[in-house]
This record gives sequence, C-alpha cells and structure tokens, in this order.
Amino acid sequence: MKIAILPGDGIGPEIVGEATKILHVLAREGLPIETETAPIGGAGYEAARHPLPHATLALAREADAVLLGAVGGPRYDALPRELRPEQGILAIRKGLGLFANLRPALLFPELTASSTLKAEVVAGLDLMIVRELTGDIYFGEPRGRGTNVAGESEGFDTMRYSESEIRRIARVGFETARGRKRKLCSVDKANVLDTSILWREVVTTVGRDYPDVALSHMYVDNAAMQLVRNPKQFDVIVTGNLFGDILSDEASMLAGSIGMLPSASLDERRKGLYEPIHGSAPNLAGQDKANPLATILSLAMMFRYTFTRDDVAARIERAVRVVLADGLRTSDIAQPGERIIGTRAMGDAVTAALVRS
Ligand code: IPM
Ligand code: MG
Repeated sequence: MKIAILPGDGIGPEIVGEATKILHVLAREGLPIETETAPIGGAGYEAARHPLPHATLALAREADAVLLGAVGGPRYDALPRELRPEQGILAIRKGLGLFANLRPALLFPELTASSTLKAEVVAGLDLMIVRELTGDIYFGEPRGRGTNVAGESEGFDTMRYSESEIRRIARVGFETARGRKRKLCSVDKANVLDTSILWREVVTTVGRDYPDVALSHMYVDNAAMQLVRNPKQFDVIVTGNLFGDILSDEASMLAGSIGMLPSASLDERRKGLYEPIHGSAPNLAGQDKANPLATILSLAMMFRYTFTRDDVAARIERAVRVVLADGLRTSDIAQPGERIIGTRAMGDAVTAALVRS
C-alpha cells in the first residue's frame, strides 16, 4: 500500500497531518503501509517553480494511491494561470487519468442540526455525485485571451466532450447506482448546449445495458434548485466536470459543512487520488481550526476503492461517527453553545476511537 502524500497549501498540511495519524495506527496494526510526501500547488511552486513538480507527478504515478490536502492561497493569486496552484490539481488529475470523481454527500445523523436547511429536508440524506473530472470546459481547446474585432479584450474557453469520455463516466454512474438504490439522475444543459445534447444521447444509450437502473435526466439549473428543495429525491447524480464542481459544493452544505465532504478520483483501474472537496482556507491556516474529518473520510474512501478493504474503510467511518456522537465539534459543525475543539484534538479523538475499535 504505497501512498503518496501531497499536503499542499493553507490548511492542507494540518488536515493531512491528522489523516496521517490514522495511517500510523493502521500500520502499527500490521497493514503494509508506506508513505512518501511531496509538494504540490503553491508549495510545489515554492519548491520547484511549478505547481506540479516532475518529482511529485513521478511519485504519484508509482504510488498505489494519493492523499491530497488542498491547494491555493492569496500569495499565488497574481501568478499566470499556468503556474497557479489550482493547475497542480488539474494536471495531476489529467496526468493520472483520474476521470471519475465520486463525491458522497452523506449527513451524519449527529449533524442534522448543523445543516443550514431544515432537519426534515436533509435528515437521512445519502447521495453520491459522480463528476467527470478530466474533460469539459476545464480542459477544452481552444481557450485563451485575445482581442475581438471591436478591439476589446476577450477571454474564451471551450466546453467539449467526446462520446468515449461520456460513455466511461456514464458506466461509472450506472455501476455506482447498481451498488445503491438503482436510481441515476444525469444532469446536463441539453436545452441549450450541444455538448449536453450528445451527453444525454450517450448516457441514454449506455443505460440500455443497465435496465435494472432507473435513469432520469435533469437540467443543471433545475438540479441546483431541486438539491435544496428536496435533496432526498436523488440517489446517484452523474454529470460533467463544471456542473459537478458547482453541484458538489452546493450538496456539501446539505451534509452540514463543506468540512465533512470527502472525494475519490479514480482511473480505469481504480487507482485513486483522495482529497476533501473543500479548498485551502488560507484564513484558517496555521490556527488549528480546520475540520480534518473530510480528509479522514477521504482516507476511508481510499481503503474502500483502491485497496478494496471495505472493513478498514468502515472502521474509520465508524470512528468518525463515535467522535461526533460524543459531541466533539470543530467550529464549522458546532451549534451555538456547543464546545469547540481544534484540528489536532479532532484528529486525536478519531485516532483514539479507531484504536479502541
Ligand atoms: C474542486 C476544486 C477544484 C476544481 C479547483 C481547486 C481546481 O474546486 O476539486 O472541486 O475546480 O475542480
Ligand atoms: Mg470545487
């Protein structure tokens, strides 16, 4: 189990540090875990003048799985786009062929009151967003800056999907739905975009191989509305890169806090990169305030998907459950009047619960 650890920037090193405590426990118990750390994002730029240094990509390639914190920070905002920390994440996703991004929005019963939505709307929420991760307007060419005929500056990006890209993510969507409630909602903008018309055709065709899964289609604007109106109507959502980015942030608030949402980004052979869906939160960095649970839950996903150790994944998730049931809260998930603990205390509590289990 060779794991590349890429802490990144901002709160990244702190939250990854807490997940590493979990790895130490599992290694002590006998799992053959080996880790190696490398810089990415702003840290990559500091170390090697590039957000994804060659050595970091090489390490990620030879590892079985990658654990990533977060990237970005105000110090790097003025860099040209190719050198910005976010390019490190995009390049590692593309470089490793991690096209399938699984983002579960699961509301722990203990956190029902932490959601900004009414308890009856979100209680029991358990939905999975399957986001395509290596195509779409994020990577489409042509893109760039220029001057239009009127002499005015313009910027342009291209939304682009090929049939094979849509087919493979659709399959992941259907397979994921098969392992759950057999309901798949494909989200697009087929009333306006050609990319989406193709998307809908291909998903419908792939659906013929999955007669046991109920397939529906929804426009993205409606999906954004339905997610806050009645999120429990969804089981699995499959969508493109840009729509998935936006809808997963929205869905995270249904689960109480963006600090709770893990993710897995997988290639064809289930090699994966695991990261919380939140960013580097520069305003919280270095203050022992960030919630490490999304990162710890990402580690659980690593054991489930890459190492196919459902038992270990379930143990980590149970340890998180225990800690929440004990009333331990970082500030993002605390209710008024609840005692707030820091990043390290939260990580220690989960580690202790794991040791006891
Ligand atoms: C995410 C993030 C990234 C994305 C950024 C940091 C490039 O928002 O993982 O959701 O847009 O994919
Ligand atoms: Mg995002």
